[in-house]
Amino acid sequence: MADLFDKCATDGGYFGKLRVQGDTYFSQPIVNGIPGAHMNFRGKDVIMWALNNYLGLADNEEIKAASRRALEAWGTFTPMGSRMLTGNTDRHIELERKLAEFLQKEASVVFNYGYLGVIGTISALIDQDDVVIMDKLSHASIVDATILASAGRRFRPFRHNDMNDLEAQLKAASGGRKGGILIVTEGVYGMRGDLADLPGICELKDRYGARLFIDDAHGFGIMGANGRGCGEYFGLQDRVDLYFGTFAKTFAAIGGVTAGDSAPVEYIRYNARTNVFAKALPLLYVETLLATLDVVAKRPDLRERTWKLAKMLQGGLVELGFDIGDTRSPITPVYVPAGSEEIAMQMISMLREDYGVFVSGVSYPVVPRGVVLFRMIPTAAHSEEDVAVTLRAYRELRDRLKIDLSQKPSQRNR
Ligand SMILES: Cc1ncc(COP(=O)(O)O)c(C=O)c1O
Repeated sequence: MADLFDKCATDGGYFGKLRVQGDTYFSQPIVNGIPGAHMNFRGKDVIMWALNNYLGLADNEEIKAASRRALEAWGTFTPMGSRMLTGNTDRHIELERKLAEFLQKEASVVFNYGYLGVIGTISALIDQDDVVIMDKLSHASIVDATILASAGRRFRPFRHNDMNDLEAQLKAASGGRKGGILIVTEGVYGMRGDLADLPGICELKDRYGARLFIDDAHGFGIMGANGRGCGEYFGLQDRVDLYFGTFAKTFAAIGGVTAGDSAPVEYIRYNARTNVFAKALPLLYVETLLATLDVVAKRPDLRERTWKLAKMLQGGLVELGFDIGDTRSPITPVYVPAGSEEIAMQMISMLREDYGVFVSGVSYPVVPRGVVLFRMIPTAAHSEEDVAVTLRAYRELRDRLKIDLSQKPSQRNR
């Protein structure tokens, strides 16, 4: 008879080898300082490429002043209780009104974490007869939500961005259909930086009478002329039934939002267990988010700066021969040759130690097995010099390690 904890003494489980070594270099690296373009890693200044701080708002004075005022007024805990009971305030309602207006939707509902927002939204909507059809490369929160919502019975993955496969799944779900169909995809794919084929998806969802939920965690605030996300980028915001954004990336805070027509949003508000049974978002964050939304809306120059640096970094890496896949966003994945974890660790160490360039490696279960990449995020806080130093480091690394860049690992495991 085994003891439940036997497995904990082995190197099984996610990142098991790193866990048993007590690693804090490749997993859970200890990084100190205000999130920005430069941070402190092991006592040394490094150029930080691993934060989703797209517009550099983690260190914005106007937003920090709003947070200080809110902290003085409300402490960290106000209000107490769930929104359903004692946790609702005028300012929560104002934040949801402003978010809906920004996202050009009738209504919105906020959540305490993006992860909880995705789980709450999807599981609130899916009943016994309904089906979820999701892109295979969707974020873990979507996978977990569909499993929770359907107990694993009624969810159908389709091959990443493959409209033929999406249609095949829609057809299969339509045979003897009793309930509704929810198509779920990311907007910007968080690891690869490519975009959902929104025009194709919208066309199919209309043809099959399905609804669409876009988790645009990495598009919210950065994609589209006004930062309204992938819907705006494609000119299809009105065709996205439920738009989802997290506050943990461009907004440099915490929480998430689902926006759409009033009826489904109110239904979600009353049925999302992750909200109904959880304490409301503290006013410290509500006030911070109101100030942040203002900055996101009135500073297109920050978006332009992020894109300018992203193009410099991406263009430079491609020129050096590195494989950055199909990114169409600031997210810059650098695929490690042969998907090798050993080469990745060697490159990460050399970048950090020899050049002061901090990148994080991403492997299974974050990306499919056999893929290893460095996910680099240029932000408005970086400088042209940061990009130049980093590209020089990659060039020297390529030459020192004699890295074979002839293969395109991004084309595997699609
Ligand atoms: C696509 C996507 N959805 C949801 C989440 C979860 O958001 P949060 O970190 O706000 O809980 C993330 C965060 O990594 C994400 O990338």
